Amino acid sequence: MSISELDIAVEALDEAVKSPPPSMNQLREEHERLREEVAEGRPQAVARQRSLGKRTARERLELLLDEGSFLELDMLRRHRAQGLGMERQRPHTDGVIAGSGTIDGRRVFVYAQDFTVFGGSLGEAHALKIQKVMDLALSTGSPFIGLNDSGGARIQEGVMSLNGYGGIFQRNVAASGVIPQINVVLGPCAGGAAYSAALADFTFMVRDTAQLYLTGPDVVEAVTGERVTHAQLGGVQVHGTRSGLAAFVHDDEESCLADVRYLVSMLPSNNMSRPPALPARDAVHDVRPRLAEIVPVERNKPYDMRQVLAELVDDGDYLEVHAAWAPNVICAFARIDGEVIGVVGNQPLVLAGVLDVAASQKAARFVRLCDAFGIPLLTLVDVPGFLPGTDQEHAGAIRHGAKLLYAYCEATVPRIQVIVRKAYGGAYIVMDSRSIGTDLSLAWPTNEIAVMGAESAVNVIYRRELAAASDPDMLRADLVARYTGELLHSTYAAERGLVDDVIDPVETRSVVARGLAMLRDKRKHATPRKHGNVPL
Ligand code: HXC
Repeated sequence: MSISELDIAVEALDEAVKSPPPSMNQLREEHERLREEVAEGRPQAVARQRSLGKRTARERLELLLDEGSFLELDMLRRHRAQGLGMERQRPHTDGVIAGSGTIDGRRVFVYAQDFTVFGGSLGEAHALKIQKVMDLALSTGSPFIGLNDSGGARIQEGVMSLNGYGGIFQRNVAASGVIPQINVVLGPCAGGAAYSAALADFTFMVRDTAQLYLTGPDVVEAVTGERVTHAQLGGVQVHGTRSGLAAFVHDDEESCLADVRYLVSMLPSNNMSRPPALPARDAVHDVRPRLAEIVPVERNKPYDMRQVLAELVDDGDYLEVHAAWAPNVICAFARIDGEVIGVVGNQPLVLAGVLDVAASQKAARFVRLCDAFGIPLLTLVDVPGFLPGTDQEHAGAIRHGAKLLYAYCEATVPRIQVIVRKAYGGAYIVMDSRSIGTDLSLAWPTNEIAVMGAESAVNVIYRRELAAASDPDMLRADLVARYTGELLHSTYAAERGLVDDVIDPVETRSVVARGLAMLRDKRKHATPRKHGNVPL
């Protein structure tokens, strides 16, 4: 610095010392203005966001949280990245709004990525903001909800972005089974962000705008030569029906965020508290005549198990998880007598309700989730077995079926099984049978529990006799009748204590409500071990 420059600097300093400091009101106004500017964002980018049919991050949080409950943290945070012109672009928020609010008066921690800032991409500061709210969610035992709209790892921040994702995943895993984690995909959710969707307990997606993939179409084409659209690669059709990543799919952001609120109302805040209960409904005295009409007595006739479910639960209300993936099994949250339960049910309407690879995975994950969060399980059984065939065997039917077996065997929450009609073979065992630890097994008079159905059984054990018979069809019919009479009759399992009672279908809601009350204080502790080796 030259002498003359030094003089000028000293003069400026003198002036500054002489002028009074800004008043409190000036400071307040200045900060208010800054906060308003930050909250408004860049008008052009916001307009583009709307043109894509998407709300802004702040509007989404308004829909998600109770009015006026949001406490924002780190609004003024900015990145400190150098290079590639990043020094010149240091927007406050760093592309993510983070903090805490309430849903129906219950505390939750949230972040909402802001696609209008660096495409919602995740750099160091962005990641640290998310990690901060994750830490607070875990230490206060509150659900954690992430609203995603992001291009993935911020390319300009290199390894610091990847490091940021790693810190998030590590927290996802530490929080797993302790607090509910909900991931909502409202735009692109590319690269690293996709793993949080897989690690969360539930992922929501919105049709038309949500995409979930590890690498976008451009990278796919560059690496493999394959040309795909965003939707073909990772739209709701893919994750809602095929990959099983999206537990809930919605047509628009409004209904999606409303359902996130509904889901939260069914979940405990953490694994040490009970799910929120509503007032009791005197379900123990509730008789439902329709239950005697829904299920056909003919064992192979289809019907909709959701109708049975609706009759059993309060107000016919239930929240189905993964409704479009593996619809041959139903997984749903509902209430009986105001208390939350998780329901797993075979669905005879789809593939006759068989268990296959996808159904096993879907139900296994649901059972484990209910068990982790102390939600009692009700299992509605009408299952012809596992789906046979090379496709299934080669796709790992045994390994995936074992997941469901493992999940039930390990579950220590109250467990009630209702055998509505048939329950054959391994699928009978897997669907929360007495042998794997159900607490209360109930069966309808239509129950048929056996190694396999009558026709198949007769074909196996009387193969030689049938081959030698002059009229094999008549002999088969006789043998089927004999097998059915001796092994498939409705009290066979009850006589052996494998079913606790054969109940009148119309009383199912009432008996299940009594069972849940009986098991309310169930305590069962697993043998100490580091962890089991669940077949992954
Ligand atoms: C930095 C990004 C970015 C990213 C988008 N932007 N993705 N900036 N890092 N990853 C910026 C764009 O430069 C642009 O900035 C603004 O966000 C909006 O992006 P557009 O491309 O104009 O929007 P759109 O056409 O809607 O496309 C959105 C998109 C696309 C599909 C997400 O941007 C895209 O393909 N991004 C890369 C996706 C990807 O492959 N991510 C993987 C990263 S690797 P301006 O200044 O123009 O507004 C990764 C590895 C982690 O995540 C692995 C951990 C396990």
